[in-house]
Amino acid sequence: MATIFVIFGASGDLAERKLLPALFDLFRKDLLPEDFFVYGVSRHEYTDKSFRKFTHEAIKRKQSSRTSKGIADFLNRFFYISGNFEDPETYMRVAEALIAQDKQLGVCSNKAFYLAVPPSRYEIIFENLAYSGLSIPCVGPREKVGLSAEVLAKAGWTRILVEKPFGRDLETAQKLDAKLGLLFKEHQIFRIDHYLAKETVQNILTFRFSNVLFQPVWNKNFIERVEITLWEAGGIGHRASFYEDVGALRDVGQNHILQLLALTAMDDPGIIEADAIRKERLKILQALHCMEPKEVLLRTVRGQYESYTKEHHSLSASQTETFFRLTAFLKTERWEGVPFILESGKKMEETKTEVKIFFKPAKHSNILTLRIQPDEGISVVFWAKKPGFSQELEPRRLSFLYKDTIEALELPDAYERVLYDCIRGDQTLFTSTNEVAASWKFITPILEHWDTTRLYLYKEGSIGVATN
Ligand code: BG6
Repeated sequence: MATIFVIFGASGDLAERKLLPALFDLFRKDLLPEDFFVYGVSRHEYTDKSFRKFTHEAIKRKQSSRTSKGIADFLNRFFYISGNFEDPETYMRVAEALIAQDKQLGVCSNKAFYLAVPPSRYEIIFENLAYSGLSIPCVGPREKVGLSAEVLAKAGWTRILVEKPFGRDLETAQKLDAKLGLLFKEHQIFRIDHYLAKETVQNILTFRFSNVLFQPVWNKNFIERVEITLWEAGGIGHRASFYEDVGALRDVGQNHILQLLALTAMDDPGIIEADAIRKERLKILQALHCMEPKEVLLRTVRGQYESYTKEHHSLSASQTETFFRLTAFLKTERWEGVPFILESGKKMEETKTEVKIFFKPAKHSNILTLRIQPDEGISVVFWAKKPGFSQELEPRRLSFLYKDTIEALELPDAYERVLYDCIRGDQTLFTSTNEVAASWKFITPILEHWDTTRLYLYKEGSIGVATN
């Protein structure tokens, strides 16, 4: 079935860096429907021609060494509608363009609306999608649409993709959900957490549930603590206003890090199927112990890199965190008393995302590292006898690196997976309404009490805030 992507925020950072290149990668791998079209919508004054040029540049930047075969055919499917998200007229123009496209094709095509915009714009876009009728397939009086009853009876799907963070806290997330729920059913809503779509994140489940070796020891009896770290050497780039409004905990804590925790701690879903997996992830997120104010003081720390306030005039008095560390506990029998130490920061000494499992020391501790990026792989520290006459032990490492395998030549980008799964209607790697609510329930009390806690400064290129 023909499929149309409508990207709100098409001239923005996310579209440029991730979405447009990912669409091209899917295209050259023959993973897009034969008839697909992309309508970019944003305030920027592009024409179809200049939007195609922008798209081409974005692809070249991302994939300078790869083939650009088929690029002309690809770009010819791109169109642009310039307009303000507050203005209902913008959406009317989108609706008209989609109707014209469908008429030309003689079908009522599938439509995917991608909100690549700051979360503060979601509400206005939801309202206007409803007002313009865009949330209903092939909207408009039949005469105007010009499609036969037969074609309309075979109308394609309509889906919406939204980025994280969804809301600012539990209350705002629930309000937004209520609005979104009026327009789309849960099976039409694709809440993106692109970490779930990373190859190595998906491998956490496969690794855990396909290797009998680790299953019996995956609990409080054998595991001392779990550390989940998401460090970035880079800063906030050009996203000062987005970041200042959001901060590190909302940006990556409420979503990416908690999802890594859920995958590390969840029970075996039995089958690889969206509902089953989402249900098990949800159980873990709902089992997170919500901190009391005094626990917030004891178990969390927030920091800001020293030059943050000098990066943009709007940041000069900022109290926004660019670093956090939390110790979380789960109220489940399997994990009772096991600390999950969650840490993230910008401008750190290196970029790395990993989950580290520290086993309880018998004499010495074993450590299992699930490395998400870079140098994706898995390693175990174990103990061996030092060669020679003594009985001394020394740590050794067993490791598997994706880059040593042939398939690693081209691991699909997370956004390719996001778009591909949305087209197929597979929601496994997307977060459910309940998962979003459960994570906000854990995060919101921390955010509320942070106003009264100290914001530590840390040096760029360091390990962040050392104290706790
Ligand atoms: C995004 C955050 O969700 O994830 C960014 O908004 C962060 O601040 C990014 O840099 C990290 O993603 P990745 O895929 O580059 O690790």
